[in-house]
Order: sequence, then structure tokens, then C-alpha cells
Amino acid sequence: MTTTEKPAARPANPRFSSGPCAKIPGFTLDMLNDAPLGRSHRASVGKTKLKDAIEGTREVLGVPADYRIGIVPASDTGAVEMAMWSMLGARKATMVAWESFGAGWVTDVVKQLKIDADVVEADYGRIVDMAALDYDTDVVFTWNGTTSGVRVPNGDAIPADRAGLTICDATSAAFAQDLPWNKLDVVTFSWQKVMGGEAAHGVLVLSPRAVERLENYTPAWPLPKIFRMTKGGKLNEGIFEGATINTPSMLCVEDYLVALDWARRIGGREALQARADANAQVVWDFCETRDWIANLAEDPATRSNTSVCLKFTDARISDAGAFAKAVQKRLEAEGVALDVGAYRDAPAGLRIWCGSTVETADVEALMPWIEWAFHAELDAQAQAA
Ligand SMILES: Cc1ncc(COP(=O)(O)O)c(C=O)c1O
Repeated sequence: MTTTEKPAARPANPRFSSGPCAKIPGFTLDMLNDAPLGRSHRASVGKTKLKDAIEGTREVLGVPADYRIGIVPASDTGAVEMAMWSMLGARKATMVAWESFGAGWVTDVVKQLKIDADVVEADYGRIVDMAALDYDTDVVFTWNGTTSGVRVPNGDAIPADRAGLTICDATSAAFAQDLPWNKLDVVTFSWQKVMGGEAAHGVLVLSPRAVERLENYTPAWPLPKIFRMTKGGKLNEGIFEGATINTPSMLCVEDYLVALDWARRIGGREALQARADANAQVVWDFCETRDWIANLAEDPATRSNTSVCLKFTDARISDAGAFAKAVQKRLEAEGVALDVGAYRDAPAGLRIWCGSTVETADVEALMPWIEWAFHAELDAQAQAA
């Protein structure tokens, strides 16, 4: 076979987008038939579904019994901003970023909230030294940098007896990576990532210390209704029992319940993590045996097992951005990989979602196509020159 001959096999499911991510294996809309459509989310049928979503989250993620879990508006962004707007300002903050989404939270705090904050950043492919941060401040960080494919390897650097709060955007980590709950006071995610759910709803997990902050601190700025978690200085407990602030989509809730059921059936959190690990390993092994493609994450301990970001390293490539886009286009045109271009603010390359809903056989089937597209594009470039 020449390098530009097309591989024989194709991924059965070419959906490798980093969000919304592939639905659970075998998904069909019929699976949502039990959604209480046309009913109030405050009717007992709706409330039960929302409570099931909260308790299912606790069970599958292993969230401690004394942590609150709420379903909130505006997806992961809503959950992160609700936490920052409600809790920050009580003490100094440390804003940590090593890719686009973390950088967005820095902008929120520095340019919008304008509170006293240190900003600690690292370039794409790297991570900051989590042990060097001041945990007497409130530390805001992203567990898995979706746009750089760099993740926090573990929570060892975070002291259990910190004075500040840790606010962690874990949207592309939750369910696929271990989250050390005793090191985290606020954890946010949305259903559209590792669980292959729908966007628009966020999940906000609060430690007892985060609740204490909410009950004992009132920010200097006004809070819109969709951010308000307290009433008369007390936590609005209803939010954390399924009485959402505004109207959720019961179709999305049903879809999440179906995904949680799938997770339980395959073996829970361990199985979800093992699936993402196996998927990412296929890509890592592929890169290891090629000298023209590499993981964007420099330190193997920080390599994401969900949003795997790759860069082309061949010296013959003259315009990295155009080359990566052309490879992505070839993959898409062949119907073997959809939405695998690097994020718009990230270095040029490919980003292959390897989260738990993706089948390892599909990642395996994709690798020869990347090889094919790379060589086909190099040839095309050489012919054009
Ligand atoms: C790390 C991170 N934070 C925040 C977001 C925004 O999520 P959403 O669009 O669900 O609000 C994303 C989406 O990709 C993300 O990857």
C-alpha cells in the first residue's frame, strides 16, 4: 500500500467533536420516550426526574454526601460564572489558565469583576506549577484544558486544609478523570461532554465550605436572578434538590438520565475512565510511532484522555494553520472524522475527542485515515509548489 492509498475501514461513528460530544453507544431518540414532555418541571414527575439526575450524578461521580449538587442554567459557563459572581471577592483570588477557557475566566475576574487577583498562566501545551499557588486565596482553574489537551494530573498539590476556595471548571474532565473531592470546593461541568448529553444545563457541585462562603458573604455587585443561590442569607436548598432556578428542558434531563443508566450498566466511573484512557492510548501510541505528529501536551503526566490535541511537526509543512485545516477537511470529506480541527484560539493541529462515549474501535479506525490525510496533503502541497 502506498501512503496515499485510502484505508479500507472507516470509523462506524465519525463524531470526535469536543463538545457536544458523541452520544452514548447505540443512542436513538426512542430512548427518550419516558421524558415528561408538556408537563411542569415542578410537577412531581418532573421534580423526581431532576432529583434522579442529581442523585445519579452523586452516585456515578462519587460526590461526597455532604456536597450539594445543583442543575443550573447556561451550561458549564453558567455554572462557573454563577460560582465566581457569588463567591469571589471575599478574599484575594488566584486565576490560573493554560488555554482558552481558563483565559476566559481570567477575563471575567480581571476585566468584569475587577477584584484583587493574581493571574498565573502557562502556554498551550504546558501547565502552571499547581504547588506554587497560594491556597489562602480563592484559586480558579480548569481541570482539563479542552483546547490544549493539558490536564491537572492529580490534586496532590492542593492542600486539604486550605483557607481559600478552589473553584474548578471540570467540564471536559468529569466522569473521565479522577476528581479529588476533598481538594475541590466548587466543581462545574455540563452534560454535553463526557456523558454525550445535551448542552444548556450546567451542574454545580459545592463543598460545605463553598456553602459556608455563600451564607456568610455578600458580593459588592448585584446578582441576576439566575445566579442567586441564597435567600435571606441561607442557601436555597431547593436548587440542590431539583427545584431549579428557571425552567430546564425535561428532554435534556431525560437524555442525561439515559446516559447515567448507560454509565451504571457498563460499570460506573471506573469503566467510564477506562474507556477514555483506552481511547487516548490509541492516539498516544499512534503519535509515538510517527515523527510527524505529536501531542500538544509536553509532559506525558498532563496529557488529556478526553480532548487529545495534536500538532504536526514535519519540517516540510510551510503553513501550519493551512495544513492542519486541509487535513481536517480531508477527514471530514471522507466522513471519517467530524469536528477535529484545533480550537480557534489554540495552536494549529487536530483535536480528537476520546471521552467515554467514543468507541475505541472508532479511534483505531481513524488513525490510518490521519496518516492518509497527512501524506495526501503533503503530496498536494509538493505538487502545488
Ligand atoms: C473547559 C471548558 N470550560 C467551559 C466550556 C464552556 O462550556 P459550555 O459551552 O457548556 O458552557 C467548555 C466548552 O467546551 C470547556 O471545554
